[in-house]
Amino acid sequence: MKEVLTPILVMEKMVDKLQQKYPLHEEKAEGIIQFHLKHENENVDCYIKSDLETLRFFEGIDKNPTVTVKSTFYNWLDLAGGKLNPVFGVLTGKLKFKGDTSFFKILPKKSFNDDLNIPEDPATQFEKNPVKYWTKPKKVIVLNASPRAENGYTDFYLNSFIKGISKKTDVELIHLSKYRINPCSGCFSCWMNVQGQCVYHEKDDFNKLAEKMFEADLTVYAFPIYADGMPGILKNYFDRSVSRAYPYMIEGLNRVRHPRRYINKNHSMVVFSICGFFEMVNFEPVRSYFKALAHNRHTPVVGEIYRTTAVGLYGNPFAYKMMNDVLIALENAGEEIVENGKIKRKTLKVVNQKFKSSNKDLVKINEWWNEKKGSKDYNY
Ligand SMILES: Cc1cc2nc3c(=O)[nH]c(=O)nc-3n(C[C@H](O)[C@H](O)[C@H](O)COP(=O)(O)O)c2cc1C
Repeated sequence: MKEVLTPILVMEKMVDKLQQKYPLHEEKAEGIIQFHLKHENENVDCYIKSDLETLRFFEGIDKNPTVTVKSTFYNWLDLAGGKLNPVFGVLTGKLKFKGDTSFFKILPKKSFNDDLNIPEDPATQFEKNPVKYWTKPKKVIVLNASPRAENGYTDFYLNSFIKGISKKTDVELIHLSKYRINPCSGCFSCWMNVQGQCVYHEKDDFNKLAEKMFEADLTVYAFPIYADGMPGILKNYFDRSVSRAYPYMIEGLNRVRHPRRYINKNHSMVVFSICGFFEMVNFEPVRSYFKALAHNRHTPVVGEIYRTTAVGLYGNPFAYKMMNDVLIALENAGEEIVENGKIKRKTLKVVNQKFKSSNKDLVKINEWWNEKKGSKDYNY
């Protein structure tokens, strides 16, 4: 378990850091800076002792300090972090100094103007308005994240969408479940140890797949709803993709995000999902997820295709016409997204149309599950 950082520990760590710079610091001198810091009704007394080689930290009170600081713990942190001007601090009573204040010169200053070399990655016009700046994608990759790959219903509905896309451009279908992607372990090695390199990169297929996906100008993420979200294999893929961003934080469109390590201009994505239940509201959790992901990946979502009752429609003789209309609309949606960077509202209306259910349908479904008890028929 991580330790709780008390004010004394914070001060000690701060002096440790200053000490690392002290040997090269030009203003070395012998003396003592005494602190009397108030924190949550407690007094935190400690001091820094300097000689010509080291800065050392001590708890308690020295009898003969060179200079004394009296303030709250937070005001001292603001002063040390450059957020509080010392003159302003004294004038407003936030800081009190006694003794030779010029002695603070022995504390090496952190330059806030240090060149951090953070890569430029501003929001592009395309990201702000993909339809206006749309250029026909040269390559579309469809990532089917159904664990059942080509045996699943996701694949079945995708086929029509892919057929539409293929009329307009080059498209490749990839089944995610055929790749081995370990879950992220949260070690941050990819941001600290070897930047951009995950500890699993040599051990699984993530890199191979991520590089392949990078060839696309438009990516379709297709998946069935699992437990109100996406299947774990897709979430693992997104978690691991963090290694492809820089750790730095920059201003984004409406909030902070990371700069991308690999930039594919005008890259966009489509969300394609199916579910077993009847209502569109079942897609809300993944809708919000992809909205956030789009911002963090600097990659706009240009189309969303959601089909409820995906299993109930399939092979249902009473819904044959509806199923047929949905498949035709999916094909049209494939053509439209490539050509215009958006899917027409009337096309989506057909794809999204509600499968009207009655209590009888629920009874039939539940009877079906009852019959399947003990069945070894995995290919439902
Ligand atoms: C583990 C699991 C969890 C599921 N959770 C949901 C759910 O929360 N909501 C829903 O509407 N359907 C849910 N479903 C149903 C699937 O979305 C539906 O069966 C879908 O057609 C499966 O697609 P596939 O054949 O490509 O795997 C779930 C299915 C599985 C296997």
